[in-house]
Amino acid sequence: MSIRIKLLLSYTGMLVVSLLVVALTAGLFAITATGDVRSFRDFYKVHYQLNPLTEEEESIFLELKYLAKNEPDRLQERELLTEYDFKLRTVRAGLYVRRESNQVFESNTFNQPELEGYLPAYDLDNNQIRHTFNIGERFYAYAKFDFRFTDGAKGSVFVIRERSPFGEVVRKLLPVLVILLVAVIVAANALLYRWITRSVVKPLELLRGSAERIKEGNLQVSLDLRSKDEIGQLNETFENMRKRLHESVQLRLRDEESRKELVSNISHDLRTPITNIKGYIEGIRDGVADTPEKMDKYVNIIYSKANDLDRLVDELFLYSKLDLKQVSFQFEHADIVGFLDACLDELRFVMKEKGIDLEWDDRPESGIAVFADLEKLKRAVLNIIGNAQKFTDKADKTIRVSVRAAEDRVAVEIRDNGIGIPREDIPYIFDRFYRAERSRNSSTGGSGLGLAIARQIVEGHGGTIWASSEPGVGTSLFFTLKRATKEEGAADDDDKHSDH
Ligand SMILES: Nc1ncnc2c1ncn2[C@@H]1O[C@H](COP(=O)(O)OP(=O)(O)OP(=O)(O)O)[C@@H](O)[C@H]1O
Ligand SMILES: [Mg+2]
Repeated sequence: MSIRIKLLLSYTGMLVVSLLVVALTAGLFAITATGDVRSFRDFYKVHYQLNPLTEEEESIFLELKYLAKNEPDRLQERELLTEYDFKLRTVRAGLYVRRESNQVFESNTFNQPELEGYLPAYDLDNNQIRHTFNIGERFYAYAKFDFRFTDGAKGSVFVIRERSPFGEVVRKLLPVLVILLVAVIVAANALLYRWITRSVVKPLELLRGSAERIKEGNLQVSLDLRSKDEIGQLNETFENMRKRLHESVQLRLRDEESRKELVSNISHDLRTPITNIKGYIEGIRDGVADTPEKMDKYVNIIYSKANDLDRLVDELFLYSKLDLKQVSFQFEHADIVGFLDACLDELRFVMKEKGIDLEWDDRPESGIAVFADLEKLKRAVLNIIGNAQKFTDKADKTIRVSVRAAEDRVAVEIRDNGIGIPREDIPYIFDRFYRAERSRNSSTGGSGLGLAIARQIVEGHGGTIWASSEPGVGTSLFFTLKRATKEEGAADDDDKHSDH
């Protein structure tokens, strides 16, 4: 339920309760007023003056009035009067007849000795025939008619009714009842307040607490608010914001972490060749290389270490440029089979010298068009083949290259029969500086950047790279490239034209 509706309901509820209470209070006062609450009584008197008697009482009164006008003397007949009084008594009223200042008849329903003194004076004009009066706590309404008996004596006939004894009870209980009603208002108010606080204020407090936590940097605690109103929506947005913040902070921390790791790896990898170079130079300076052969050897070692350094710095530079996406790829329409042919031709001689058999496995008959930056792709292929020839312990060393084409992709596999990669290392070999067996690999001089660079290049082509390996048997490195469609080729040609 929305807050708007809640507020509307609560205010309407309060209004209805208040109206009910007002109506009830008014009712109570009305009843009480017919008893003896002076301030209110006047208002009710008007009502009773106009209409002091019930319909039955009124009709009896009219009969009596008729008698008074036409046969006034009959109003002295006790028998007749008793008869009328009896009729009135059934409707809880009584008859009173007066001649001059003497009482002719008084109903014993009243049981009120002071009644006579409170009755109004004689008024032949009959200006006010209906009125009320009270004796002590008791409240009476009456209708009267003044007339003359045939002998000229003044006569009055009264139909008197004592009003509600219930009024009396209510009047006594009035304070309690009023307190009760006030209590009802207070309770209704408290309940509505609780409802609004529970559904609006409390969640807001929770949200505030959460915002406070975020301010202090605690982004982990999630709020479990299940309301569906505006606050629920606010909470949802808030939660999304918190999650995003949390993620970005995590990412930043991870970046920070990997930056530190990168710096420490770089310094470590640079230090080794530099220490070596320093060692050999010191050897020369101290005269350890005292023969031309030794000197030659030392200088050669220094030269090769400097080469290692150079290569490492190159690789690092390339990797960081690829990582920062600062390298632009020059894609062109190319034939992957032809490209691999060229790579194999280039390497075959060196490999043969090292006793490694580098060949195609099932070379496709025709070319397969791909979209690639061949220069960078060559770098990736050389890194992979370089690993294949480096991590091997077999006498018969073989490296096999194969290509499989799917509708929109081409997969290249480079398989060796080398030492393989332990299963738990496979997921990490494409991470920078990762070497499966550090101690042994350090002798091979690798920095662990080769596959990281290959991955950046393949992913830069929109492809994927992965490995499957069986320790002791061999390793297969796969990568995919997008196949070039005719349109792309055409677009590429267009680009070339537009370049010129
Ligand atoms: N063909 C393979 N056979 C066995 N292990 C491999 C092979 N290719 C990669 N690895 C493992 O994966 C690790 C990461 O390879 P990567 O090429 O990234 O680094 P590297 O060869 O050690 O160093 P670099 O290539 O920078 O000289 C290697 O150290 C090696 O442990
Ligand atoms: Mg390598």
